[in-house]
Amino acid sequence: MKLAERVTNVQPSPTLAVDARANAMRAQGIDVINFGVGQPDFETPVHVRQAAKDAIDKGYTRYTPVDGIPELKKAIVEKFKHDNKLEYALSQVSVNVGGKHSCYLLCQALLNPGDEVIIPAPYWVSFPAMVTLAGGVPVLLPSRQENGFKLTLEDLQAAISPRSRAIIINSPSNPTGTVYNKEELTPLAELAIRQGLIIFSDEIYSSILFDNRTFTSVAALSPDIYNHTVTLNGVSKTYAMTGWRIGYMAGPEDLIKACNKIQSQSTSNPTSISQWASLAALTGPQDEVAANCREFQKRRDYIIKRLLAIPQVTCSTPGGAFYVFPNFSAYYGKKFQSQIIKNSLDLTSYLLDQAQVAVVPGVAFGEDSCLRFSYAVNIEQIETAMNRLDKALAQLK
Ligand SMILES: Cc1ncc(COP(=O)(O)O)c(C=O)c1O
Repeated sequence: MKLAERVTNVQPSPTLAVDARANAMRAQGIDVINFGVGQPDFETPVHVRQAAKDAIDKGYTRYTPVDGIPELKKAIVEKFKHDNKLEYALSQVSVNVGGKHSCYLLCQALLNPGDEVIIPAPYWVSFPAMVTLAGGVPVLLPSRQENGFKLTLEDLQAAISPRSRAIIINSPSNPTGTVYNKEELTPLAELAIRQGLIIFSDEIYSSILFDNRTFTSVAALSPDIYNHTVTLNGVSKTYAMTGWRIGYMAGPEDLIKACNKIQSQSTSNPTSISQWASLAALTGPQDEVAANCREFQKRRDYIIKRLLAIPQVTCSTPGGAFYVFPNFSAYYGKKFQSQIIKNSLDLTSYLLDQAQVAVVPGVAFGEDSCLRFSYAVNIEQIETAMNRLDKALAQLK
């Protein structure tokens, strides 16, 4: 079949591919510990599930307004005001089919062929693909582990060209867990808008922050920055609702309206029932969010301790999200029997085969020296996995 070029220009999501391979091994009865997938292992809160059942019983099963039900949009406006010190009108908010779709719509609404989008690396796997699907050009900007994987002003300045249209900032970051503070963000955002860029601030992990950090939204930095920033968030990670597919964004009204136009011609609206459930998530008790965050912090502390105890592995300490991105490049070039481990893909396969531990190769995120561990598994499993990892790595000569 001859397919459209846009399809052949992108790869399927490698994180979902790792998950599929781990699940296939599990189906054969192999005890795989899966650090591959980017979703919390907690349950969606009971009151949220109940709200979905109530929505069905009340007959909220029809099309909704394209940009979301007004009740949910009002709750999102309140969330932004309360948590992020951001004031948005209802017309500046759009509810979409997951944060991934918010980002997709933004790319479709903003980019003309050849427009460049600056994406700091390591990056979430879908950012470059979504830019490419919109005809844009991803400009991947490496950051250094020694800097905690933070973008520097000099690097950003050097990446800006006359074709630059936007920059994506993802703090806390997938895959590194890096969190920018206000002092670090301000000069980067000021430079971006001075050069006429739109900022996509992907804040989907903003509720998972460690060591009593406070979160700074990019759009809250100054009125000028606010006018050039789209703030993206969702319920997937905060409320363990990945399968419900609700994300949302807020920003300049004309850009949001353009995204709504595309949504109206593609999905019509996000699922009605999931919207009512998300309303309950945003307006109901938040204690599970805090409890989940405390649990993630315990796991982070444990996994970091174990990773740093592995000879020649280095790792920066994540400030948020539920990922850690250690550097395993000291193991590249080593051998198991006659097989040479050349890169992160080889090491990932080796660990899956020999230790039954699934991780994602760093190359998928633009940094081949690292592997991504998603610690959305309990501490006992982390301990078992790290014991297996120690053994498997010790066999490499
Ligand atoms: C950085 C980042 N942004 C956005 C998303 C999208 O999440 P969802 O589409 O489930 O809302 C993800 C999911 O993994 C992510 O890691």
